[in-house]
Amino acid sequence: MMAVCTECHSTTWAEGHFTELDKVVADYNKVWEYTDGLLEDAYEKGLISKDNPIDETAEIYHYLVWHHSGRRWRMGASMMGPDYAHWNGAVDTIMINLGAMINDLELREAVLR
Ligand code: HEC
Repeated sequence: MMAVCTECHSTTWAEGHFTELDKVVADYNKVWEYTDGLLEDAYEKGLISKDNPIDETAEIYHYLVWHHSGRRWRMGASMMGPDYAHWNGAVDTIMINLGAMINDLELREAVLR
């Protein structure tokens, strides 16, 4: 990939892009590990079941954190779209999808208690 980029850009410029991209992916991965941990805890506590992996609210939001807004966060950064990566990616991932997943699990826990 660097060979392609350096056809037009300096090595420093192209490396800078990939360094920044790696940092964005590292940030995303922290959120993903947290989200995945929440789902595993919910299975262990019996808040949701593994019968169908994508039928319960928490499972759907878990999927969206990876594949929907999470993909926009990672791919937005890889395609040099900071506004898209931030608002459609990071903000939707954390404030909408992860937030709704946490709310759903807290509600289930409160009801079952
Ligand atoms: C064919 C020449 C060419 C190649 C190959 C190329 N670029 Fe560019 N790149 C440009 C030009 C021209 C611009 C400026 C476009 C503009 O300002 O509208 C640009 C802009 C950019 C920007 C700034 C984007 C922004 O929104 O400010 C980054 C970062 C970048 N390129 C990284 C890369 C990387 C990484 C690669 C390899 C995957 C790459 N480029 C391959 C020509 C190229």
